[in-house]
Amino acid sequence: MERRIHSQAIVTPEGLICGEVVIRDGEIVAVDGKPAASCRDEDWGADWLVPGLVDIHTDNLERHYQPRPGALWDGYGAALAHDGQCASAGITTVLDSLSLHGMKDGLDRRTSLGPMIAAMDQAAADGALRAEHLLHLRCEVTNPELLDLLEPHVDNARLRLLSVMDHTPGQRQTTDVAGLQSRLLAGGHSEADVKEILSDRHMGRDPSAAHANRRSVVAMARAYGVPLCAHDDATIEHVDEAHADGCVIAEFPVTLAAAAHSRVYDMAICMGGPNFVRGSSHSGNLSARACAQADMLDILASDYVPLSMLRSAFMLIDDFGWAPEKALATVAATPARKVGLTDRGEIAPGQRADLVRVARRTDGWPVPKEVWRQGLRIA
Ligand SMILES: [Fe+2]
Repeated sequence: MERRIHSQAIVTPEGLICGEVVIRDGEIVAVDGKPAASCRDEDWGADWLVPGLVDIHTDNLERHYQPRPGALWDGYGAALAHDGQCASAGITTVLDSLSLHGMKDGLDRRTSLGPMIAAMDQAAADGALRAEHLLHLRCEVTNPELLDLLEPHVDNARLRLLSVMDHTPGQRQTTDVAGLQSRLLAGGHSEADVKEILSDRHMGRDPSAAHANRRSVVAMARAYGVPLCAHDDATIEHVDEAHADGCVIAEFPVTLAAAAHSRVYDMAICMGGPNFVRGSSHSGNLSARACAQADMLDILASDYVPLSMLRSAFMLIDDFGWAPEKALATVAATPARKVGLTDRGEIAPGQRADLVRVARRTDGWPVPKEVWRQGLRIA
């Protein structure tokens, strides 16, 4: 069945137009800036029509699996709850990011990883999900058990991205351990808590395993044809290594120098939506806004707040003067292309009919009023 949707503000790859999007069998078949005697099925008026968002990094599933420290939820319920949040935030494709490191904030990934993946596989097979859920496995290279955790899932058909990380205090994201201690204390933690948190972050890590683990992950990415992502690069040397390893995305570089060097290799610079909306990184590192100001921002991921993607994209338009098509590309077309998805991310003929109807509040807040995936309304 064909449907014609009218909007005064359609974000196409060529720019903002007033017109109609024609969809049929889940695909966009035409985008018409000058529709003739129109027989619209939907009139979105002044609300914007933008592509469904593509999120390559969100830890939101883990949060639903363990809503409070030590309180586990069932995997299927967590999948549904997380999915609902993504869809209602305008995200039609999401790479659920699961960290392959033993213990964090009371969540034991050695025992939770398998059930979380299996529950999402099942929910997808049941047709119970609104968004399309793919998988991003975050490989903590100092984890001596990394390969045991990774190997059972590396041939999962939903696996779309692998990243290599080292979160040992003193490395990359937490080069400034004293700064981390001050932030934890300012956040209300006692000195004893801070000591425990830091000792937890050293627990289960073996820096001597990092090199061999990284080589294994790089080899698996190549063997299985899965795109690879660098994480928290801080120095020129980190970026050189990431490029040599075939990384196509620089996720959350912690310095502007590392971001700039990633550009030299055409690695897409990915920053977190919450960092952008808040105006700073929660770990005191490179600000996503500084990247935008330096025109070194290619992808925004939701990281830990699904609604941050749409909000960030419209802030790029309103506050940074970016053209709408360039701003929306950071949350749709560019992340899609970098993980090999060519069938979505743009309002253009031949693309999936993944659409978001966005109402603009006078204070700038973009409100996702309707979300469609492959021609069907999902939120
Ligand atoms: Fe990190």
